[in-house]
Amino acid sequence: MNSKITAETVRGMKGRGEKIAALTAYDFPMAKLLDEASIPLILVGDSLGMVVLGHPDTTRVTMAEMEHHVRAAARARPRALLGADLPFKSCDTIEGAVENSRRLVSAGAEFVKAEGGRAILPQIRAILSAGVPFCGHLGMLPQHVLEEGGYHVKGKNEQEHQELLADARALADAGAFAIVLELVTPPVAREISQAVAVPTLGIGSGEGCDGQILVTTDLLGLSPDRIPRHVKMNFNLADRIRAALAEWKQTV
Ligand code: KIV
Repeated sequence: MNSKITAETVRGMKGRGEKIAALTAYDFPMAKLLDEASIPLILVGDSLGMVVLGHPDTTRVTMAEMEHHVRAAARARPRALLGADLPFKSCDTIEGAVENSRRLVSAGAEFVKAEGGRAILPQIRAILSAGVPFCGHLGMLPQHVLEEGGYHVKGKNEQEHQELLADARALADAGAFAIVLELVTPPVAREISQAVAVPTLGIGSGEGCDGQILVTTDLLGLSPDRIPRHVKMNFNLADRIRAALAEWKQTV
């Protein structure tokens, strides 16, 4: 079956018990490679800021930068569902959320993702009413790194546990087709995955999620900073590139 993958296809994978393997891409060649590997969901994440643009976190990524990279990835015309992050502060108002989602769709995104649950529910409803498929993002929210003073695991106490559960239910009820769970304690991530009908995509949240999403440069060992602990495979392409460069230099 080679038909185009839609948000509905991804949503339906949960019912069929198919695990969802999702990855990020920020440009044409990587989007093409992921698509050739039959990755069903490709995200132009705002991790772009750190792994491509050299910023310390995601809070400096602009809409113009997201549009630029979404356009590049979309030129791969993937069979995969291609989505994009709404960057820092682009979703603060209802009008802004809709306008910026439309801009990302014009650039080639087939869904948008934003960080937050009930706190941004009016924006999410407006995005969905504008006809743009929406993916939620709960748990550790990288765009809040400065307020929170770091990247902290979520769901460790009863209050966080209940809030995550309520946020996930609210996102699913509002019509999100999937929910990313980032750095959520594995038992809470599993409970959320069982509680909602839409697929959860875990990142550092254990195996109880309906799928996993990773930053591709982390998976391949190409990220400039330390590779997060939840990345278990060790491909270390950076070392292979260093060796290739040194070998070529010897030939000059
Ligand atoms: O920005 C990003 O890459 C993400 C991750 C969940 C993959 O949001």
